[in-house]
Amino acid sequence: MSGRANEASARACANIALAKYWGKSDLRHNVPAVPSISMTLDQLVTETRVRFDPLLEVDNVRLDGRRASTEEAARVIAMLDRIRREARFRLRARVSSHNHFPTAAGLASSASGFAALAAAASTAAGLRLSSRRLSALARASSASAARSIFGGFVELPAGERGDADLAARQLAPPAHWDLRLIVAQTVSGPKKVGSTEGMERSRKTSPYYGTWLTQAPKWARAIKRAIKDRDLDTLGAAMEQSTLAFHCCAITATPSIFYWAPQTLTALETVYGLRERGVSAWATMDAGPHVKTLCDASDAARVKQALDRTAGVTRTWVTKPGPGVEVHS
Ligand code: DP6
Repeated sequence: MSGRANEASARACANIALAKYWGKSDLRHNVPAVPSISMTLDQLVTETRVRFDPLLEVDNVRLDGRRASTEEAARVIAMLDRIRREARFRLRARVSSHNHFPTAAGLASSASGFAALAAAASTAAGLRLSSRRLSALARASSASAARSIFGGFVELPAGERGDADLAARQLAPPAHWDLRLIVAQTVSGPKKVGSTEGMERSRKTSPYYGTWLTQAPKWARAIKRAIKDRDLDTLGAAMEQSTLAFHCCAITATPSIFYWAPQTLTALETVYGLRERGVSAWATMDAGPHVKTLCDASDAARVKQALDRTAGVTRTWVTKPGPGVEVHS
């Protein structure tokens, strides 16, 4: 790869799933079994720098200034290996990634992380991939990352076994709808069970997993229509159902996976209380205890204040629809 830039950095935002992805139809190619829809979030950013270096004998991966664990490094190296195969070279890389929010706390840092890594590493390797191919590359590492390649409102369809090219696509740009997502952090610390493990356990052992597979596309369709129509009440109701249904699969798996903490329910009460007082505010939780509340921009200050006053909420962020991945060589 002489004569070409062998270094690049990229910046990607996390996303919130409005229609949830939970479960794979192909574990090896990491293909989701249900369609998901997300909003990319402007505040939760990962920045990743990759340099392919002829002097390195092994890949060197640093996350937030520390050496990556063996498990974390293995996922990064699997992505680098896919890129090396495509670029047809063997150089090892120095990867350094910074999250501007807590990692592995159910705040979807793997989405922004693998989206930034796919963009930075493929550019550093001299590949010029389309957004669609970048999305498929990111998806192979973490399916939610496929959505973070695009800004605004994004759809990742369900796929079948062997669907190695499955990619996300943008439904609408960030300016389409001035929504806010208020992230309320409850307890800190890494999540109890990683999403991949949680999904596989749900698939193998939850008696409700089959129902989830048949119902999830219905909520995704309703959410897609609601985005088009800018209909927050319809979107919010379907998002809450999608959320509770996937958590139902996790809770009823063996052994059971409870991602919630007592503070999660307290924060949910706050959101339901706001709704009783006429505010269109809707809650969702991912594979962690934090509560994320979707509302109109005009209600954001009120929703944030209510969550800030909720016992057990340690911090809140107000985020809005954000951009897709950006690369700097
Ligand atoms: C609950 O994308 O982290 O946040 O593909 O195994 O890496 P892998 O899973 P991941 O799962 C995200 C699950 C979720 C819902 C969602 O973001 O759609």
